[in-house]
Amino acid sequence: MANVIRDPKQHPEAILGDFSIPNPLVTFTKEDVTFTYGTKWKQRYFTKIGDDFFVFPAQWDVRNKTWRPYYVKHGTDWWTAVYPADQMQRPTSTLCDGCHSVNYDIKTKTPTEWNVGCEKCHGAGGAHAANPKAPIVNPAKLDDVRADDVCIQCHSQGQPRTNPIEGRYYDWPVGYQPGDRLSKFWKLEEAHLGEETFTHWPDGTAHKNRMQGNDYVQGQMYLKGVRCHACHDSHGTKHEALLRLPGNAVCTQCHSAVLQPGPRGSLTFHTQHAADSEGSKCVSCHMPAIQQTIANVNVRSHTFKFISPAVSEREGVPNPCASCHKDKSNQWALDALNSWPSVSPWRVGG
Ligand code: HEC
Ligand code: HEC
Ligand code: HEC
Ligand code: HEC
Ligand code: HEC
Ligand code: HEC
Ligand code: HEC
Repeated sequence: MANVIRDPKQHPEAILGDFSIPNPLVTFTKEDVTFTYGTKWKQRYFTKIGDDFFVFPAQWDVRNKTWRPYYVKHGTDWWTAVYPADQMQRPTSTLCDGCHSVNYDIKTKTPTEWNVGCEKCHGAGGAHAANPKAPIVNPAKLDDVRADDVCIQCHSQGQPRTNPIEGRYYDWPVGYQPGDRLSKFWKLEEAHLGEETFTHWPDGTAHKNRMQGNDYVQGQMYLKGVRCHACHDSHGTKHEALLRLPGNAVCTQCHSAVLQPGPRGSLTFHTQHAADSEGSKCVSCHMPAIQQTIANVNVRSHTFKFISPAVSEREGVPNPCASCHKDKSNQWALDALNSWPSVSPWRVGG
């Protein structure tokens, strides 16, 4: 999480976008870029105008290695109603910077540090923060709600409780500090059940990236006090997505037939796929990649619920079975599920 924002004058290698071939979307040059933003899924380009930053209207799709337009259309995100249509009049101070820096001061429009620094999760501590042995706030010692709020402050779609703040509309939780209750500052974007919105699928699962918090609070694991940090170590690991353990191992820390959270029976009894099949990976069925980050690049859901093919038929939400078995119908998947001894037809909608 440490290197999202970089200054290309200091780190020319930070620029991932291909500026060598002229492209009509790319109306700016490398020299115009004050900061690059992002490395994993997409890269956006910031420029300084006056005392604020603005994002150029083209972004680099890292996975597909191609330029795509960057523009949040009117009637999509809530704030498009209160900002000019012109991309270059939508400042990052109000719309981005609070989540991509530490101690962002809305009066001076400056942070103490760009990117996700220690203090963003451990609290403003000055000298304390410099001494890692004595963090001001240790999320491990907070109650469950406050501990996950530390992550949800950035990993969610929402709106400040009070907006505008000093005449300007913000899209990040201004004033929140680790240890606070985030809900005093921030309300999560709501789902409208039965309706597909900018942020949600009709069943309430998130539809957009950066909604891990919106999803996670809906599930049993959140309720039982399993924290984001049970699966991730945001200080860094050698595994995909900062996971503590790779593959199913991150789940089998707590899940097996002999442990209370289940699932009951062996792996293959539960999944009805061969043990080494893609169809036996927990994430394949419980965390389908249905949340769009850019173009066809999606991130995984965090409700952990299994979305039945019957729900897809009724509400148009993609389900994991048919997403993987692309040549098969929802009905095929439902018939298969209903023949599995591990599954109750009353629940999946037989
Ligand atoms: C993205 C959030 C985040 C960032 C950034 C972060 N930490 Fe942490 N840190 C945590 C969480 C969450 C815990 C509690 C871990 C747990 O649940 O076991 C923690 C625990 C710790 C602990 C253990 C505290 C104890 O007393 O057991 C130390 C030390 C620490 N962090 C140091 C740092 C330092 C130094 C940095 C900056 C280089 C940093 N952290 C950045 C989230 C973060
Ligand atoms: C200051 C905002 C902020 C906070 C607080 C924060 N994150 Fe993040 N997180 C980010 C950003 C920005 C990225 C994208 C990083 C990138 O592009 O490399 C990210 C990425 C991640 C990733 C994906 C990394 C990858 O390589 O795919 C995980 C997992 C993650 N964060 C977990 C956490 C957890 C757990 C916490 C709470 C302990 C937390 N984050 C707190 C901003 C934040
Ligand atoms: C509420 C906090 C928040 C706000 C506001 C926010 N971001 Fe992010 N951003 C994140 C988090 C968390 C991630 C990583 C997780 C994800 O994308 O699912 C991220 C990811 C990104 C990435 C992708 C990083 C990569 O490596 O692919 C880019 C680019 C980005 N943000 C740019 C912006 C811009 C530009 C704005 C303002 C228009 C903005 N963000 C506003 C929290 C925020
Ligand atoms: C730190 C322990 C822990 C870890 C790690 C963990 N779980 Fe859980 N899980 C639980 C607990 C506790 C419950 C709640 C059990 C109950 O209510 O009886 C649960 C419940 C569930 C449920 C059923 C309830 C629901 O919300 O749908 C699913 C599905 C699930 N976990 C999937 C996973 C997956 C997939 C992983 C790995 C990515 C994972 N879990 C990792 C502890 C954990
Ligand atoms: C092929 C798809 C598939 C895979 C892979 C899968 N599950 Fe499930 N899982 C389901 C279905 C279907 C249900 C039942 C959902 C319902 O009834 O609402 C379920 C239910 C659960 C439950 C709650 C019911 C129970 O039996 O306790 C837990 C916990 C769970 N799964 C954990 C896991 C874990 C952990 C993994 C990886 C080891 C995993 N699942 C892999 C399809 C899958
Ligand atoms: C039960 C385990 C578990 C919990 C709890 C959990 N995650 Fe994840 N998370 C995962 C797994 C597994 C992945 C997928 C890694 C992959 O794609 O291989 C993931 C992926 C991510 C990613 C990267 C996006 C992607 O799909 O590649 C981010 C960001 C993230 N988690 C943030 C969070 C935050 C924030 C919380 C708490 C609100 C959280 N996670 C809670 C297991 C968990
Ligand atoms: C991540 C991909 C993936 C997911 C998700 C997945 N499967 Fe599969 N499935 C496979 C693969 C690969 C095979 C081939 C045999 C094997 O590996 O077990 C297979 C085989 C099957 C078979 C037997 C062979 C056939 O084509 O008739 C059935 C039935 C089946 N899956 C049903 C389901 C159902 C129902 C679900 C949802 C609960 C599901 N699968 C989810 C990948 C997946």
